[in-house]
Amino acid sequence: MNWSRLVLICAIATCLCLATSAEQRNRVGDFALLDQHGKFHQLSWYGDQKAVVIFVQGNGCPIVRNGVHALKALRDEYESRGVVFFMLNPQIQDDRESVLEEAEAFGYDFPVLMDDAQLVAESLGVDRTAEVFVIEPKKGTVLYRGPIDDRLHYESQKPTTKHHYLRDALEAALAGEPIPADVPASPGCIIHFPSQKQHRQNPLSYSKDIAPILQNNCVKCHHDGGIAPWSMSSHEMVRGWSLMMREVLMTRRMPPGQIDPYVGKAIREVNGLSVEEKQKLVHWINAGAQRTEGEGDPLAELTFDDPRYSLGEPDMVFSVPAQSIPATGVIDYRYVPVELDLEEDIWVQAVEFVPGDRQVLHHVIAYLSSPADKTVRGRADGSANASSVGGFAPGRQPDFFRDNSGRLIKKGSNLLLQMHYTTTGRETVDATEVGLYLHDQPPAYIMSGGVAGQRRFLVPPHAKEHELEGEQLIERDAYLYSMTPHMHYRGKYMSYTAVYPDGREEVLLSVPKYEFNWQFSYELEEPLFLPAGSKIVAKGAMDNSERNRFNPDPSKPVHFGLQTKHEMFFGFTTLRYVGDTPESLTAGESVTEDLAADF
Ligand code: HEC
Repeated sequence: MNWSRLVLICAIATCLCLATSAEQRNRVGDFALLDQHGKFHQLSWYGDQKAVVIFVQGNGCPIVRNGVHALKALRDEYESRGVVFFMLNPQIQDDRESVLEEAEAFGYDFPVLMDDAQLVAESLGVDRTAEVFVIEPKKGTVLYRGPIDDRLHYESQKPTTKHHYLRDALEAALAGEPIPADVPASPGCIIHFPSQKQHRQNPLSYSKDIAPILQNNCVKCHHDGGIAPWSMSSHEMVRGWSLMMREVLMTRRMPPGQIDPYVGKAIREVNGLSVEEKQKLVHWINAGAQRTEGEGDPLAELTFDDPRYSLGEPDMVFSVPAQSIPATGVIDYRYVPVELDLEEDIWVQAVEFVPGDRQVLHHVIAYLSSPADKTVRGRADGSANASSVGGFAPGRQPDFFRDNSGRLIKKGSNLLLQMHYTTTGRETVDATEVGLYLHDQPPAYIMSGGVAGQRRFLVPPHAKEHELEGEQLIERDAYLYSMTPHMHYRGKYMSYTAVYPDGREEVLLSVPKYEFNWQFSYELEEPLFLPAGSKIVAKGAMDNSERNRFNPDPSKPVHFGLQTKHEMFFGFTTLRYVGDTPESLTAGESVTEDLAADF
């Protein structure tokens, strides 16, 4: 259903009656937002709940402040009956900091969904704060919109409440009965939606406004021969996919690998749209995804040259033993050794994988087995260190060691690849290649891998958010270059914090919605100095509940292990220890062993 119709319906209807015929129209699409603490919430995740209550919050509005007590009382009563409560803040003048202050001052202990692009509020037809929406989360049906009760009005409060509209609506919803529709309009403070207004008055241009956003944020994967299943190759394609685009934008599924943009250090080439870009795309889609007569089609003019290796011809190429992939089923992670047969020690500057069959290869993590390890098998039980030397995942840049640094691979070492395949309905054989790019001369510095991880944990069955934490002690002065969160199917979120020797803490990165499909490496714009004695702390959580649609078996406890049915909690790091140069290596000492030993 299109946007303008929804607005119209919302505007003319003070009540949204729940007659079956109207039900179809009173739906809100699935959406995801971060709350005031940077935590990710998605409506459909609460699909097993009976109702989701959303109270429109705005700082400074007296009706909001005065209404919260009643809302809390209802929350305390209905939470145990399958009703989840949120606040939603769509005000352009508010931000996380001011919302945290307001929440502190007025005792709001709800997650406040920060609707910074105002798109969720727009899709609900919100116009004032203090209004409440009751949504059936599975289908997104809006069961009720209106005031909490009749106690509050502009500059007046009644001593007692006569009509408990929200309570009545919840009782009816829980009983599966029609929701009383005769409720008055909800008083509250008017919210300004400038972007929506602007885009209505001056319709967006496909070629000038929309195509450049897609070109900068999507087309690198969505082109012919790219890793995405469809190409943004023309206006017709984009228009045809536009409603699906809106869904993935509203649920933050695309572009993949998004981080919390409000915290952490600057990250290189991270995927994510600005508030303005999101508004432009969604408003253009809502208006019908039109291209004006005579406008050019910049997307149709793009050409792509996808070289086999994006870094050029590697110095050494190794074939990964071919893997037969069945047509259907879930494939356990495979641990595939790659014999390097090196004649001498080598200094690696970059590692790039070329998947044999992009349709089935989901990710690879390359672990290095140093000559000291007796067998590759010894490594595969997870008992050895877990520092990675690189990896592959769709959309992930090859690992390139910056600033004239490299990693030493000693003669006798091998790679052990964790390979994750998915099935596609047809049988295939994947013959992946790995290319190593070498330094001719030993580089100035040595790059090391580490991990802030946790190997002793048990996630109880059905746990919705089982928190885990791991740390890496930085024993000598070092520079941190990149961070790569790694968990399996139950991974929910992960953040990295630096704890300095003087006790100061700094969030470096937060990935609020971890997706095991995408194994991104997050590279710092500027390498970060970590004095000796600092710690990198990875904090995250596992979702072992039935709400996690990737979960293979919510009824089982999960512990650390290498297979898909087991879990990992690794916050990989790439860092360079000050003073680690090829010359500083004394004969016989293995850097990789040395540095991974702290795990
Ligand atoms: C890093 C690569 C990458 C980028 C960047 C990217 N996509 Fe995708 N996109 C994919 C892949 C791969 C899939 C298929 C996902 C799957 O199979 O689950 C996909 C699927 C989709 C789908 C289909 C729905 C689905 O879940 O399968 C839509 C719509 C979409 N992308 C829109 C976008 C938009 C809009 C952008 C930019 C704002 C974007 N994508 C950026 C890789 C990318």
